[in-house]
Amino acid sequence: MRIDILTLFPEMFPGYFNSSILQRAQAAGHLQVDLHNIRDFARDKHRVTDEPPYGGGGGMVLKPEPIFAAVESLQGNSVESHQPVILLTPQGRPFSQLIAQELVQKERFILVCGRYEGVDERVRSHLVSDEISIGDYVLTGGELAAMVVVDAVTRLIPGVLGAEGAASCDSYATGLLEGPHYTRPESYRGWSVPEVLLSGHAANVSRWRREQALSRTWQRRPDLLRSVELSEEDKQYLETLENDKGVEAASEE
Ligand code: 6GU
Repeated sequence: MRIDILTLFPEMFPGYFNSSILQRAQAAGHLQVDLHNIRDFARDKHRVTDEPPYGGGGGMVLKPEPIFAAVESLQGNSVESHQPVILLTPQGRPFSQLIAQELVQKERFILVCGRYEGVDERVRSHLVSDEISIGDYVLTGGELAAMVVVDAVTRLIPGVLGAEGAASCDSYATGLLEGPHYTRPESYRGWSVPEVLLSGHAANVSRWRREQALSRTWQRRPDLLRSVELSEEDKQYLETLENDKGVEAASEE
């Protein structure tokens, strides 16, 4: 997979991209990330990339020409001109695991990092094919969002994660939050690891993990339960949680 990133601040990226799993994914040839400075595509003497908005008001707006020039230099004339061009903006559709799964299917896409004051509307209406936001808060620019998108997509590329299918039981891949994890030591400050995890009984461990995931999701993100596929056993377990809640409420009276 190849991802091109257009930004005014390419120097923000190497620390994150050259570490850990993203670094490994690139070294192994699963991922190619190319950073492009929008300023390099400004044709005027002072290489201006932003100007005040028409109509007045504060802030600066990114000019259309350098962004069009940068995208068009990447698209060339071939089939590749159909690659998605995604603007990172707080006005975009909310990023999710589902969108990451959609993007990992693409061979190539372009991420355009907006600055928070804005991008000339003609970029949005005539160049960009999609707009993504990473949450309901305002960042100074799209760079962190681009890193978030690259990270979430890269770990879905087959072969990138070490353990076979490690991504498929993640929170959000199953639609549930993950339950608790433990590692050595068996007892720490008197807090011990749940017995079932030490039992060596694979079926019991797997049932316990499922129930922990269900109860954690039920407690913290009940909204997620609506879009999860639940077995009869799952439903029964959730019912016991609901009933226990009833019992607790009654005992508080
Ligand atoms: Cl993609 N950009 C900016 N500037 N702020 C954001 C965002 C993106 N997503 C959430 N907040």
